[in-house]
Amino acid sequence: MFGKKRSLVGLDIGSHSVKVIELTEVRDQLKITGFGHSLIENKDALKDTVVDLLRTAGIKTRRVVTAVSGRSVIVRYINMPAMSDEDMKSALRFEADKYIPFEVDEVVLDCARLKDFGETTNASGEKEMKVLLVAVKQTLIDDHLQLIQAAGLTPVVVDVDTFALGNAFEFNSLHSPRVEDEEQVIALVDIGAIKTNINIVKNNTSYFSREVYLAGNDFTEAISRRMGIDSVEADSLKLNPDGKEVEVEECILPTLDDLANEIHLSLDYYENQYDREVDDIYVSGGGSRISGLQATFERVFNRRVDFWDPTENLDIRADKVDPDELKEYGAQMAISVGLASRILDR
Ligand SMILES: Nc1ncnc2c1ncn2[C@@H]1O[C@H](COP(=O)(O)OP(=O)(O)OP(=O)(O)O)[C@@H](O)[C@H]1O
Ligand SMILES: [Mg+2]
Repeated sequence: MFGKKRSLVGLDIGSHSVKVIELTEVRDQLKITGFGHSLIENKDALKDTVVDLLRTAGIKTRRVVTAVSGRSVIVRYINMPAMSDEDMKSALRFEADKYIPFEVDEVVLDCARLKDFGETTNASGEKEMKVLLVAVKQTLIDDHLQLIQAAGLTPVVVDVDTFALGNAFEFNSLHSPRVEDEEQVIALVDIGAIKTNINIVKNNTSYFSREVYLAGNDFTEAISRRMGIDSVEADSLKLNPDGKEVEVEECILPTLDDLANEIHLSLDYYENQYDREVDDIYVSGGGSRISGLQATFERVFNRRVDFWDPTENLDIRADKVDPDELKEYGAQMAISVGLASRILDR
């Protein structure tokens, strides 16, 4: 009589802050029923930060989807002879060491055929398929799961930041299509505190992804170094330049240039490999909020750069979520939205 109600929490544990989104589906209607964010003051008390955040956000759902990222996560796009999914999995277990810089028994492996590529014929006339290979160090997964369980939560899926970013974009497009043409190539760029994720997608398939270790913290460091002030002062000046906008922008310009050039390399790599231009660039993440970023990116890429809010156009339970606060932090919520969007997986 009341219809089915299901909830899922997307929990993004970044290096700077923890972000959380709860999605609830009631009678086929999806709503954001919980939202929160919390700075990580003490990395040794991360479990308490997560527990307090969920409590403050009024989220009671224990089923969470989380993600790992960083240098212990390896993503590769490889060509393999065409074969069944089952054969692909066993073949990769033997061949993975060709692609990853770790011992195979140190990692958890996952792979998926990239259907959008179909099958191609290589120079020797053999049929090939493209496969996405993901390897994550077992110790990273173990530590991560330990944290989630210690916080009293039930991990449903452990994802990877980059793919959560792609899922957020796909999920958001269900509500307000940004992509009219399946052939459109989109570069998603999420700028956090220590890293920037790049995921180039077409027709909801990832064609390229990379993590660049340049982001918000590097802007703070540049301000601190160039102004000769400590990092606490530099950070507050970054967040609130308070009349010193021009000086702050000057301090971070070389770092912004470096980041833009790194991203540009990825765009070039994709464009050369697939002989196809990237059509649109969508930027998110807390680090993207720095002033001067859009102008630098557009100058270096020589094309328009768009900011997007992964929470826009989603229905909200207004008694549980403050729409103004959600809007203010929207850009930072991409990963958590992408994680929670797995509520649609059946
Ligand atoms: N208004 C703002 N202007 C400039 N920088 C900002 C602003 N708001 C947040 N930031 C910066 O954004 C970064 C945090 O963004 P985010 O929450 O996306 O990172 P994170 O997910 O914790 O980090 P990572 O993904 O790198 O582990 C910090 O460096 C912070 O100083
Ligand atoms: Mg992040």
